[in-house]
Amino acid sequence: MLAKVTSCAVVGLDGAIVEVEVDTSRGLPSLTIVGLPDVAVQESRERVRSAIKNSGLIYPNKRLTVNLAPADLRKEGPAYDLPIAVGILLASEQVWSDRVENALFVGELSLDGGVRHTTGILPMVALARERGFHTVFVPAIDAPEATLIQGLEVIPVTDLASLVSHLQGLRSIEPYHYNLDFSADEPPSYAVDFTHVKGQEHVKRALEVAAAGGHNVMMTGPPGAGKTLLARSMPSILPQMTAEECLEVTKIYSVAGLLPPEIPLIQHRPFRAPHHTISHAGLVGGGHFPRPGEISLAHRGVLFLDELPEFGMRTLEVLRQPIEDKIVTISRAQGTLTFPANFMLIAAMNPCPCGYFGDATKECTCSLTMVSRYQKRISGPLLDRIDIHVEVPRVEYDKLTDDRLGEKSEDIRARVEKAREVQRQRFAGTSLICNADMGPAEVREYCAVDEAGRSLLKAAMQQLAMSARAFHRVLKLARTIADLAGSSDIQTHHLAEAIQYRPRRQV
Ligand SMILES: Nc1ncnc2c1ncn2[C@@H]1O[C@H](COP(=O)(O)OP(=O)(O)O)[C@@H](O)[C@H]1O
Ligand SMILES: [Mg+2]
Repeated sequence: MLAKVTSCAVVGLDGAIVEVEVDTSRGLPSLTIVGLPDVAVQESRERVRSAIKNSGLIYPNKRLTVNLAPADLRKEGPAYDLPIAVGILLASEQVWSDRVENALFVGELSLDGGVRHTTGILPMVALARERGFHTVFVPAIDAPEATLIQGLEVIPVTDLASLVSHLQGLRSIEPYHYNLDFSADEPPSYAVDFTHVKGQEHVKRALEVAAAGGHNVMMTGPPGAGKTLLARSMPSILPQMTAEECLEVTKIYSVAGLLPPEIPLIQHRPFRAPHHTISHAGLVGGGHFPRPGEISLAHRGVLFLDELPEFGMRTLEVLRQPIEDKIVTISRAQGTLTFPANFMLIAAMNPCPCGYFGDATKECTCSLTMVSRYQKRISGPLLDRIDIHVEVPRVEYDKLTDDRLGEKSEDIRARVEKAREVQRQRFAGTSLICNADMGPAEVREYCAVDEAGRSLLKAAMQQLAMSARAFHRVLKLARTIADLAGSSDIQTHHLAEAIQYRPRRQV
């Protein structure tokens, strides 16, 4: 007999429907899985057999063929265990139920019949709703994640035996209801607060501007000046995510298998700080079955690259395309795949190998060639994509020992939120979120400057040898500075501040 059960695959960040067909026929007892299955799917045979036996059911002594359709889609992972088991039970007429109709099954089985956590539940359930399915059967542990998508019946499955009695109508499993509060009420307590960072007022200002408009930042300065500390304080001034942004980011973490089990929703902007030994695939995503990399995990949040030159030229160059396009494209045999990667880059570096080039008191021990070689590890095209370059000098003794506390992150965040609100209204009805997202058309529309501003820009273009990209970036940055000041038009002093954040090669 032939049985059909519907399941789901995840390709990139999107679900794709997979039909699981099970056929029984006479012949030597065996189980064959066809339809481009990977090793984990092949191993499904053993798990399914044990799970069925250990759930008090009968594993048919027949020749079983499982087809996963469409055949051209590569199937990975153990998520098909549950639909295969249900298919076998239907095909061997141990279960007959109309509850299988219009429903989607996903889940990994353990040998005793228990149903285990499966990654990518969120995109699968999103697809189920889009395709008009009525019910999704998911591992009980993943049920809260599934209910982030509303309008579907979510059945939490703990084990195969209880699923069978539910399907037979003997003992129904209660649909799972869970209302997650999206309005991310209280911001969490942050590990570091700007109030504890002494001095460095101009750096704090630069970071405030960056947070307000989503701009990239590069901090340069001697060791121990507070670059890492400042960058780590960044989450405390980032604006709240909207409900849409939360879902978008949560989808990425769901596919990466990084959702916290208790509250499976990412409510705060991510802050990712990968070490410089990270691999290519780890940074931009990839692998046999492509997974999102750090730049996608930092989507809508911050990617902090400390000690930037240590990352090496080749690793850094792969960041160029995603910084510009806000997505990352991964090529593989079956075509290309994209992940979102709209992050704010915050980078920190020393000016030279010894770290004291340009320091007012401590002498630099590097030769000019060494300094130049060190700085050249970061290519011009990458520097060009960073809007804000700030120097972080050593803090003076007086400032460091000053008992007065600096401005609290909370107050800075309030200003950032206000500037973001202006941007939300500006970009209402579009896919843009902040000023850094603007393309040439929006720059033209929203970044008009007056006569005085134009002559300032002209002079800056010539003196700093700015590229067309840098020119647009200056205008976007000036827009943010004006938004922070509550000004509807960009004034000359807003432009002047934006221009002074452009990089200057020191050697
Ligand atoms: N501006 C500052 N205010 C308060 N403490 C500071 C400051 N700068 C540095 N420190 C102290 O020095 C430590 C090292 O700073 P860090 O941010 O790692 O320096 P860098 O990354 O520039 O080498 C910090 O953890 C902090 O204790
Ligand atoms: Mg540091």
